[in-house]
Amino acid sequence: MDSIIVTGGGELDGQIPIAGAKNACLTLMPATLLSEEPLTLTNAPRLSDIKTMTELLSSLGAEVSSLQGGKVLAMSSHNLNNHTAHYDIVRKMRASNLVLGPMLARLGHAIVSLPGGCAIGARPMDLHIDALEALGAEIELKDGYLHAQAPGGLKGATHELRFASVGATENTVMAATLAKGTTVLKNAAREPEIVDLVRCLRKMGAQIDGEGTSTITIQGVDRLGGATHQVVTDRIELGTYMLAPAIAGGTVECLGGRIELVQAFCEKLDQCGISVEENEAGLKVSRKNGRIRAVDVVTEVFPGFPTDLQAQMMALLCTADGTSVLEEKIFENRFMHAPELVRMGAEIDVQGGLATVHGVDRLKGAPVMATDLRASVSLILAGLAAEGETIVSRVYHLDRGYEQVVRKFSGVGAKIERVQLK
Ligand code: EPU
Repeated sequence: MDSIIVTGGGELDGQIPIAGAKNACLTLMPATLLSEEPLTLTNAPRLSDIKTMTELLSSLGAEVSSLQGGKVLAMSSHNLNNHTAHYDIVRKMRASNLVLGPMLARLGHAIVSLPGGCAIGARPMDLHIDALEALGAEIELKDGYLHAQAPGGLKGATHELRFASVGATENTVMAATLAKGTTVLKNAAREPEIVDLVRCLRKMGAQIDGEGTSTITIQGVDRLGGATHQVVTDRIELGTYMLAPAIAGGTVECLGGRIELVQAFCEKLDQCGISVEENEAGLKVSRKNGRIRAVDVVTEVFPGFPTDLQAQMMALLCTADGTSVLEEKIFENRFMHAPELVRMGAEIDVQGGLATVHGVDRLKGAPVMATDLRASVSLILAGLAAEGETIVSRVYHLDRGYEQVVRKFSGVGAKIERVQLK
């Protein structure tokens, strides 16, 4: 099994190109199921999660061709011949549940395995089910599968989500594009990936207003056509690489980055004493002399501080001057990186959804284990500033969400390599 070895020390300098967003691509791909005509995505990230979604869509009868080394995905769903998303694929990735809304809307029925537990929390599907039922779907849970049908077709309705879930918003918006009449989705999620999905659906002929606000209105149409769409920049990959110079020192320019994608995160970097400048190419991040300042962080839905950057931010705060409190409000079990960071000399006390980080002068390299995608990269970031070698095992988690991670870090001078350890 592969591991990553990071040798700490040394400032970073250079540019890192930021890829298209994994979480946008994972919702744009199932949008192909809504139309008989081709949907082409450009700026797709090259990740194992994208391969898993390709496998899932192919199992439903869609054609997915990966072009230009994976940066372009040409899809067509003119011949859907299966409406069951099997457990074998769904268990690998929760985002598989995003085929439910589109299949139900296009075919009038869908059977989708429940994703099951996941390392960062229970992550149930109740919000997706309630919203689709409001549109007239009948959904039953049998043998671990959601059996959904809409015999007379879906019908537009007004529905308020109890929580602004990203996935439930995406599934409902996609389903509503082909429903009869108007759907008003209240307390909708406002994440940039949802705005990107709506822009693509609009190119396909959908009539949608209000994306990026908490009320999205969808006027159903009879059919959707084809489109070509460029996937938005990955704000989580962006934030992750912005933290590299913040932790190790130096200056790194993240190409393609824009402040509006990471506003709340940039405010925290500013409070820590990290400088971020926006220019035409992207975001230039530098660490000024001296220790960074401690800050408190609360994860929230967009436009708040993203949960997907909490682990990486914790890695930064481990060596801050003072005590920081991080509160995780989106997932109930997302501090699994804390004990690994403690192995590297960090002082962190976790109580439920609160982690108190007492800054230390220096971390020390240690063997650590990646537990999920964002936790894995936080350990690499911590390793950049640690004394000696940090060996991160179980790095297959990283391949789900960070393309060419070793190349990107080493391109700005980090000492990092991927090895096969027995
Ligand atoms: N939730 C429910 N019921 C539901 C749906 C969600 O209780 O029916 C709860 C979840 O258990 C969780 C919270 O609501 O506690 C947030 O879940 P949400 O539905 O918003 O998240 P998601 O759609 O499952 C996406 C991203 C995650 C990201 C979250 C929050 C994709 C493919 N995944 O997940 O990304 O953390 O939004 O921003 O878009 C990652 O990339 O590392 C990752 C985990």
